Amino acid sequence: MTRPKTKILVDGGDPQETRRAKELLGFVDGQTTNPSLIAKNPHIKELIASGHKLSSREEMDEYKNIVQTISPLVGEAGVSIEVFSDESTSAQVMLSQGQEMFSWIPNAYIKYPCTSEGLRAAQMSVKQGIRVNITLCFSQQQAAAVYAATKGTKQPAYVSPFVGRLDDLGQNGMDVVKNIKRMFSKGDGHVLVLAASIRSLEHLLYCFVLQTELATVPAKVLELWASKNLPMPDEQFQYKASGKTIPYQELDLEQPWESFDIQHELTRKGIEKFAADYRATLARPA
Ligand code: E4P
Repeated sequence: MTRPKTKILVDGGDPQETRRAKELLGFVDGQTTNPSLIAKNPHIKELIASGHKLSSREEMDEYKNIVQTISPLVGEAGVSIEVFSDESTSAQVMLSQGQEMFSWIPNAYIKYPCTSEGLRAAQMSVKQGIRVNITLCFSQQQAAAVYAATKGTKQPAYVSPFVGRLDDLGQNGMDVVKNIKRMFSKGDGHVLVLAASIRSLEHLLYCFVLQTELATVPAKVLELWASKNLPMPDEQFQYKASGKTIPYQELDLEQPWESFDIQHELTRKGIEKFAADYRATLARPA
């Protein structure tokens, strides 16, 4: 098999899935997690089903155990760990969580939401040498802001455009990935595109065509890819988008991050859902 240039990450919260994906593919470059995926981890589900809800400290410890188990299974794309935040969480609070989470494993990337507070936390993080992955990105403007906020980082920063959630709204989510790649081709290369919310083999194969640096993929899509002997897109490959085209915008990456329009309804909804899934595991919701 020709290994894709795009690094393949497992999108999940269960180390058993990571082991299985590694068996099927022969490699796994990295892993992404988020509060919803952690709430679905079999051990956490068992605890909740047995009536044991967690304190926020216990939840952090469970999260730490999960990523410590996954960390040695994956390659150089690392394990992304997401801070717990809602619409009122300050950059400073996100940063303190990020600092703690970054110490859990040697290959951590800290996920911050693509909001003003999240970008402030990311800006402070990269200055301290904390690797970051900016999540819940739905637009080219948001990606431009990530670029500007993380400028000067010594290690690559990731930005995660969410494809499937844009598709769900009747848009062509892959256009955002394509547009960001095109915009970043004029940049200095310090931000890598990590295609997320991948729902199908077609999404994955198109990521290979667009040469996204990374793609995070649920186990069931990886299983499907493996069941077909890990095909790669050939010259005839055409991505069949069903949603509305998202046009490319000319943006100046040298502008300050605050000058970009980073508002997106799906970012707000995404934070709400992550916070709700996190709180559902807690005895006394934070
Ligand atoms: C990964 O970083 C994202 O959290 C994940 O891909 C989101 O996927 P979903 O839209 O299927 O929840």
